[in-house]
Amino acid sequence: MSAKPYHEKSDHGKGQVKSMFNRIAYRYDLLNHLLSFGTDRYWRKRAVGILKDKKGTHILDVATGTADLAIIAYKSLNPRKITGIDISEKMLEIGMKKVRKNKIDRIELLYGDSESMGFADNTFDAAMTAFGIRNFENPGKGLSEIFRVLKPGGKLVVLEFSRPQKFPVRQLYGFYFRQILPFIGKAVARDPFAYRYLPESVFDFPEGDDFLDYLSGTGFTDASQISLTFGIASIYNASKPLV
Ligand SMILES: C[S@@+](CC[C@H](N)C(=O)[O-])C[C@H]1O[C@@H](n2cnc3c(N)ncnc32)[C@H](O)[C@@H]1O
Repeated sequence: MSAKPYHEKSDHGKGQVKSMFNRIAYRYDLLNHLLSFGTDRYWRKRAVGILKDKKGTHILDVATGTADLAIIAYKSLNPRKITGIDISEKMLEIGMKKVRKNKIDRIELLYGDSESMGFADNTFDAAMTAFGIRNFENPGKGLSEIFRVLKPGGKLVVLEFSRPQKFPVRQLYGFYFRQILPFIGKAVARDPFAYRYLPESVFDFPEGDDFLDYLSGTGFTDASQISLTFGIASIYNASKPLV
């Protein structure tokens, strides 16, 4: 594997990440839609679509935040249940309000650390996470935990930012992420740390083949990547082997 191991890369502690999301929670959805020009909804729908063969089952939403991915999955997959976990109480509070407003009774949102989950082995038919793993203190540990709680044959879908490879999108993206996005983030969320952190965490995160290697290294099989919107985001999916 050529990428840096996760645990060597992270200089943002769990407490720091948690309190940052608690601080920006009330503006998180607005910022998400604003900074992605609304494309995050389309990306989420594409990610959830990968799980269409898991309709009617029990799905885990790792680092669920304000539950956007869970709600989209609920609407398109008619699951038996979706369990979302997160370490930010404020993000969960907003998620719970949205779940109640949509009158959904099959989404449960729980406080929980993805790097050490309180679920038994082989609990879930599928797991998904959007813009979550990059924020873990130790993403390798998070992936191993997801692997553990998935049933054999269970599927994992990861939606994450990636870096476009081609000129001029690569250059424009770098400029937008480093110069424009922290500026808007600072103005809207009034939290300069949060939007300095975003580009740093994106540029540090292993992507493409490096991330596929991490998935395979964790024990997942059939790992593949779908590139979205000029490579600005990617969907990775993989399965836990049957035996
Ligand atoms: C960028 S937000 C993504 C939220 C949501 N999945 C979405 O698509 O909008 C990242 C989330 O990861 C959560 N998080 C970070 N580390 C975590 C951990 N170890 N366990 C659970 N959640 C974590 C944060 O609290 C935050 O809500």
